[in-house]
Formats: sequence, structure tokens, C-alpha cells
Amino acid sequence: MFKLWILFAYLSLEFLIGTASDLQPQCFKTPYTSCPNENISFWLHTPLRPQGILVDTLHLAGLPLTSKSLKVLIHSMGGSRYSTPNSVLIPKLLQLPDVNILVVDYEKLSPEPCYTESSYNIHIVAGCLAQLLATLLSLGLLEANQLHLIGLGLGAHAAAFTSNILERTHSKVSHITALNPSKALYLTPDIKQRIDPSDAEFVDVIHTDVMVLGLMQPVGHVDFYPNKGVVQPNCGDPKDIKSNYCYHHRSVEYYAESIFSPTKFWAFRCKDLYGFIVGECQPNDDLVELGYNTPRTARGNYFLATNDYPPYARGEQFLNLDRNLENQTFLPKEMIEMLGKMKDGARGLTTFH
Ligand SMILES: *[C@@H]1O[C@H](CO)[C@@H](O)[C@H](O)[C@H]1NC(C)=O
Ligand SMILES: *[C@@H]1O[C@H](CO)[C@@H](O)[C@H](O)[C@H]1NC(C)=O
Repeated sequence: MFKLWILFAYLSLEFLIGTASDLQPQCFKTPYTSCPNENISFWLHTPLRPQGILVDTLHLAGLPLTSKSLKVLIHSMGGSRYSTPNSVLIPKLLQLPDVNILVVDYEKLSPEPCYTESSYNIHIVAGCLAQLLATLLSLGLLEANQLHLIGLGLGAHAAAFTSNILERTHSKVSHITALNPSKALYLTPDIKQRIDPSDAEFVDVIHTDVMVLGLMQPVGHVDFYPNKGVVQPNCGDPKDIKSNYCYHHRSVEYYAESIFSPTKFWAFRCKDLYGFIVGECQPNDDLVELGYNTPRTARGNYFLATNDYPPYARGEQFLNLDRNLENQTFLPKEMIEMLGKMKDGARGLTTFH
């Protein structure tokens, strides 16, 4: 059967490569698989050291952890220890009781626009991160059930690969949060090659750019699609690729806000994105909160709208849900109408099955 999502894979890769500037930085696949790797560093942020300290991976026993509960933040292509998601999440997460944060910095292995090389290099990053975490577990400095990896874009897949490695010697990671997990090169039914629910005891996913940079398919125990995951407010012209980067990063903004949101990002369940767009489901009693407070028992696909400006959370307000796709993507109107008529064929686009 012709899989339409394969077409979409090409489209998104074309977009990524199309945005590459003529001034190519040195894109390279690191030939080194051993750790430590000079281009991968780890930074520990604790309430006592909010600015972060460089982790000496050869002397982990002396690491000044203040808690056995660890959040690991993994950036995406073009990121660094100073960029999102770190800059946005660290100040919020440090306000939680008993939280330590480990930031993974692999900036030199993932410069823009070196997407193919970055997606190779994240396997090396995952190897070094898994090694570090395995040592902390063995030293009793970390509690396996308090390990939470939070990855943006490529970082979400890196979290999955880390868990796969850790599982061989210890146990898989307890919790992975995937913030707009990357699509190009990860549109595969082979779950070893991308994030999927088997990668942690609980995998929650926030999709904010399903058309270009992020996966449209559900890949977690619970998947959230704010604003259909198609277009996020105040990001600019939907036909301009820059807007997609804004959508992508918005997943971090929603997650950060959710930590202390008094209003909460309530979302309601629908079978899948296709079902939501064609109006198969209405707001119902099956509500789950998006973000940091999503219960680990949540399962399925959830939909919500946000406010246009922060605070983005709208509570249980589901009025005027926008299910329209016209003028919201690079797809011409005729193609949207065609998808609408395809019914199950189009539904195949929104899932891996
Ligand atoms: C680190 O990155 C530089 C380029 O910035 C490269 O020349 C070097 O080989 C890399 N080292 C490793 C271990 O990846
Ligand atoms: C899409 O844009 C066209 C041209 O600007 C406009 O005529 C049309 O009404 C828009 N459609 C929707 C659903 O907003």
C-alpha cells in the first residue's frame, strides 16, 4: 500500500535542506565512539548551583548532586547548553523541590544545518550520556525511578537511544518527555530507529509542528497536539519556514508553562489527528493535562487549543476549536480537499499503521 507519509518525509527533508545556507559550517559525523568526547559536555544545575557546573565524567563520585531525582535536558540541532530547551526549562524546574538537572551540550556535533550528521551524532551522544547515567546509578547517586529525560527535536530521539543503551546494563529510563520529536529520518515503523513507547516506562509527547520539523504520528503512551500540532499562534506566515522553527520551539514554552500553570492545559481525547480534523470527536470527559503534570497513567491522543499569547493555557475552555487546515500549511487547498476525500488513506498519514 502506498504510504502517504513517505511523501511527507521527503517534503520535510527537502524543507530542511532547502534552508541550508551557502556558508556550510563543517558538517561531520564524529568518527569517535568512545567517551569522554571533547565535543560532548554535561552540566549539572542544582538549587545551590543554578548557573551549572561542568561535570567531570571521570570523577563522578564527587558530583555535588543534592537529590536522587534527575531531569536530563537534551537540545536539538543548532542547540547548546545556553539555548532552548535549557534556557527556558532550567529556571522553572529548579523551582521544584528536590530537582537536579543535567544539561547535555553537543553543540559542535549538531550545528545548523547539518541535519544528517547531527542525527548520526546523537547516537554517540546517547552512548556517552548512557555511560554517565549508568555510573551514577551504580554509585547509588541516582534513583532509576526518578530519572526523567526531556528532549527537544533530535534530542527526543537521543533520549530514546540513551534508554535503549541503559536498559542493557541497568533498566530503561523511567520517563521520557519528547518535545516535538524530529520527523526527517525518523519516519520509520522500525521502533529501534526512533522514539516509541517502549523506550521508557512512560513516554509523553507534545507535537507542535507536525507538518515540517516534527513527527505527526503518535510515538508515546500519550501524545498531545496543541492547535492540531499544525500551526502555533503568533509565529508568522504559515508558508514561511521560519514559522516552523517557532512552532517547534513552542513545545518547550508550553511545557515550561505547564509546570506551575494555575489554569492548566486541559486536553480531550480523540482517536487520532485525522479524527480531530474531520470533527469525529468533541470535547469530552476524557480530559488529561498536557505537560509536566500529565499523569503517568495517561494513554492516547489528546487535543487542545491555546491562547495566542502567554499564558498559553486555556484551562477547560474548548470553544471555537480550529479544525481547519486551509492557509495553515504549505499544502495547497486542492491537496487538503483531496486528503479530506481520501478518508482512511489520509488517516494512514497520521499513524504508523
Ligand atoms: C570535535 O569537533 C571538531 C570540529 O569542531 C572536530 O575537528 C573534532 O574531530 C571533533 N572531535 C570529536 C571527538 O568528535
Ligand atoms: C485562505 O486564504 C484565501 C486567500 O487569502 C482566502 O480567500 C480564504 O478565505 C482563506 N481561507 C480560510 C479558510 O481562511
